[in-house]
Amino acid sequence: MVQTLKKVENEEQLTMLLSARGQSGPELTDISDKKKLSNSEMMLCVAAWAALRKGIEVEMHSLADYFGDRPLTDFSQTSLLERIAKADGILLSGPVYFGDRSSLAHDLLRLIRNNEGIIQGKVFAGLSVGAKRNGGQETCLIYQMQDFLHEGCIAVGNDSGTTSQYGGTCHAGEMGSGTDDAYGVRTTIGTGNRIAEVIKLLDMAKPFRLKDKPRIGMFILQDKKGLCTDFVRRSIIDSPLADKADFKLFDLAEETVRRCLGCVVCPREIGPDAEYRCTVRNKDDIFSRIHTDLADLDAMLFGGYSPIRFAGLSSIYQSFIERTRYIRRSDYLFANRLVAPFLLQDIGSSEHLSIRIMTSTIRHNTIMHRPIVFHRGEDGIIGADKTIAHLDNFVNTASVTTAGKLLFSADTENQTKYQPFGYTLSSQRDAEPETVRIRQALYRKRHENVLKNIAERLEKIA
Ligand SMILES: Cc1cc2nc3c(=O)[nH]c(=O)nc-3n(C[C@H](O)[C@H](O)[C@H](O)COP(=O)(O)O)c2cc1C
Repeated sequence: MVQTLKKVENEEQLTMLLSARGQSGPELTDISDKKKLSNSEMMLCVAAWAALRKGIEVEMHSLADYFGDRPLTDFSQTSLLERIAKADGILLSGPVYFGDRSSLAHDLLRLIRNNEGIIQGKVFAGLSVGAKRNGGQETCLIYQMQDFLHEGCIAVGNDSGTTSQYGGTCHAGEMGSGTDDAYGVRTTIGTGNRIAEVIKLLDMAKPFRLKDKPRIGMFILQDKKGLCTDFVRRSIIDSPLADKADFKLFDLAEETVRRCLGCVVCPREIGPDAEYRCTVRNKDDIFSRIHTDLADLDAMLFGGYSPIRFAGLSSIYQSFIERTRYIRRSDYLFANRLVAPFLLQDIGSSEHLSIRIMTSTIRHNTIMHRPIVFHRGEDGIIGADKTIAHLDNFVNTASVTTAGKLLFSADTENQTKYQPFGYTLSSQRDAEPETVRIRQALYRKRHENVLKNIAERLEKIA
């Protein structure tokens, strides 16, 4: 199938090829021995085509060929494991079953879980197909992303061209009808593009090293009497980890953040990255103060204290997140930064803040790392060593993604652009010659900045 896909020149040819194979499939012997492609297999082909066009080598496997009622020690599963171990990334495509993944996808995860570390550092992305328009494609993608992060992957959604959501979401019921859903095909192509670009970015970073430390913003967005901030100062800022990373603490839980007005300013106007261009300019609002620092970071940890008892908690979390709208609309200023939830969490807290942080911050075209969660019991932190190891991994990964992000952006083809899908007025404004001219100037400025950073911050490893 990969050989056939390599010959496909455009999206139209691709959907024609796949829908024909979905209906009858006379000569099918490739991704599986089946005569017809399932919807999930169709979408996998679509994403594979996109990744192939980005210069990535692709192998496709049908999980039904490896799992079923067979035990995990089966020889075929060993061969699948070997393939997984060699891969730089994993793109998982599957149907939505009851708002979650299918048992076949779960079998794959069980196999991976039984072979701890096998997917450490690989890039993960997902595609999901459901018979209903809102059948749980997104819940399925978010849950499985969490599971693959837990196994050590870094995760991405779909690309900025398809508005950076959680992956490919396809609406199809009858077998072989997947490619009828044009929007689903678009997000699926976007996911193939995105996993390919992050794999390339990591590959570009290999012969380089950061001369300085990665600049990591730690955003404490909710706290109780400085509990989390004190913990961060003591256990992280003043710890040996600070030798490897330049941690910048944003102690914001007690600050003021005004609500996003949902106005037309950031969707319609564009401006330089260094300029604060949100319409909210109240004196007490923190964003105009922190914008320059935000623009300068390499990686970010968002979170704070997640308690069992909420009384007395100061939290700007929700308003902070919604106000980052103008940053997303600044052609994804946070693109390709490594991000993770960071929590000091009471044992027994069921706030699920970590999953909400992931859900919101991946929409900034970021690269997601597993959550960094310190568990707080009555007698102190439990299992701190493990969490510190996760943080250490975050720091190491941030060095690589920072180098990769710079090198990747040195190619002007790789500019991220916000696409105002769903906003007619913004789309019209975007197409106006004056906006196009300003955007070109902004891109040039971004590019100059990237080249300057490459010269100052990267060195080749001999
Ligand atoms: C057990 C089961 C549960 C399902 N649950 C959902 C669901 O929660 N939401 C949804 O949109 N579709 C649901 N579906 C429909 C499938 O996701 C849909 O038919 C999909 O296109 C199948 O993809 P496939 O061809 O790759 O198997 C369910 C189907 C089955 C068999």
